Amino acid sequence: MRIEGVVLAAGQGTRMVSKRPKVLHGILGLPMVVYVVRALRGRTEGMWVVTGHRGEDVEGRLGNLGLSFVRQDSQRGTGDALRVVLSHLSAPWVLVAPGDMPLLRGGSLDSMIEYHARGGLDVTVLTTTLEDPAGYGRILREGDLIKAIVEDSEAGPREREVREVNTGVYLFSLDILKKALPLLSPHPPKGEYYLPDVVSWGVREGYKVGAWQVGDPQEGLGVNSRAQLAVAWSVLRDRKNKALMEAGVTLVEPSSVYVDVDVDVGWDTMVYPWVQLQGKTSIGEGCVIFSHVRILDSRLGAGTVVLDSSLVEGAVLEGGVRVGPMARLRPGTWLDRGVKIGNFVEVKKSHVGEGSKASHLSYIGDATLGKGVNVGAGTITCNYDGFAKHPTIVGDGVFIGSDTQLVAPLKVGSQALIGAGSTITKDVPENALALSRAHQKVIPGKGMDYYRKRRGG
Ligand code: UD1
Ligand code: CA
Repeated sequence: MRIEGVVLAAGQGTRMVSKRPKVLHGILGLPMVVYVVRALRGRTEGMWVVTGHRGEDVEGRLGNLGLSFVRQDSQRGTGDALRVVLSHLSAPWVLVAPGDMPLLRGGSLDSMIEYHARGGLDVTVLTTTLEDPAGYGRILREGDLIKAIVEDSEAGPREREVREVNTGVYLFSLDILKKALPLLSPHPPKGEYYLPDVVSWGVREGYKVGAWQVGDPQEGLGVNSRAQLAVAWSVLRDRKNKALMEAGVTLVEPSSVYVDVDVDVGWDTMVYPWVQLQGKTSIGEGCVIFSHVRILDSRLGAGTVVLDSSLVEGAVLEGGVRVGPMARLRPGTWLDRGVKIGNFVEVKKSHVGEGSKASHLSYIGDATLGKGVNVGAGTITCNYDGFAKHPTIVGDGVFIGSDTQLVAPLKVGSQALIGAGSTITKDVPENALALSRAHQKVIPGKGMDYYRKRRGG
């Protein structure tokens, strides 16, 4: 069967109450329309996306997926949306899906297509049966065949009782679309053209119009509101978490863990409650991610431990690294094996060599640290002079005493020792001791007793 795909994504989504076009609202790192595109992928020869409301934004977001776009300049309903794309279609079958149906699975489309082919049908509608069908078009049946689809707003009391609904996914013969679309008439009050009317028209004209019920009713969810968006979030979260657990990842409290669809996690990794793993992230085997951690666009090697309340963004952590609690790794951070970044340490655009440690209260920016460096508590790379960022280069085995400022640009040779409390402004050669402290004054007898007496205490 030669099938072409059409995804409807031109509507504003008024019920979302949003500036953003509805189909671009994200769930676990992807706009909902991308889920629909992925479900259709591989099942159609080419895919058309009908865009309209903020069409540039939608096309921009889908730009690299190899899709074709056609504009519906004024959004006059789903029937009108199909009319706009009609002249571009050439395959004998057309699979249509709405862009607001992120829970749809590709496997369900396969079953629908198979049912369609087996029954020699002219049109097949993907349907589902809901506890609460409010808002959906109702399927009026006669045995295996459909008699009509009635929109919720136009349904009588009897029709409202029907719990089998139209999911908005259809397989049409191109021939029927060509004949029926020009005949649609607008529905009051908004004057919209309804795609389901093509189905009812087909029935009246004696075509074979069938319905395939999707096995998992959740898949039929159309996201029209923020509340429905939240339902989609929880279903997709649960699907991803189930897949992770099946692949050997421990999730202590899955309902509190949000892992974006494209994130990989290795087996025997343990994830504590309230964790988010986002974007293009991959986590190796045997890692431990403690509570309130967010990791975005980062790669963590095997055996890495991220302690509570840390934020990791755009970073590469080779194996066996230990981060946090309360650490912040910013984009461009690259930590070699066995590095330790402790509490209240921020690292940005820096490479930290194997086994080096910054255990407390530091800022490391635009720096390259060798192997086995010890960064004392409170050390700061002063990388910014108000105009430009400058690099700091620290050799292997350097010991930086606590509360040191390294004023960049700066080079510290390997095995150098920097005394605590120093402000280092000049390069330090290998193996040297560098100190910059004011001389300490000691004045006997002027301690607290003296001070209290003076204040009359
Ligand atoms: C539609 C169906 C309803 C079905 C439900 C399933 C119609 C008239 N009704 O209702 O039978 O039960 O989906 O979720 O089709 N769109 C355009 N151009 C337009 C209007 C809409 O591209 O002019 C797109 C939207 O961006 C959206 C999709 O079509 O992705 C569906 O539109 P929506 O307004 O959500 O339809 P529903 O009212 O949910
Ligand atoms: Ca909808």
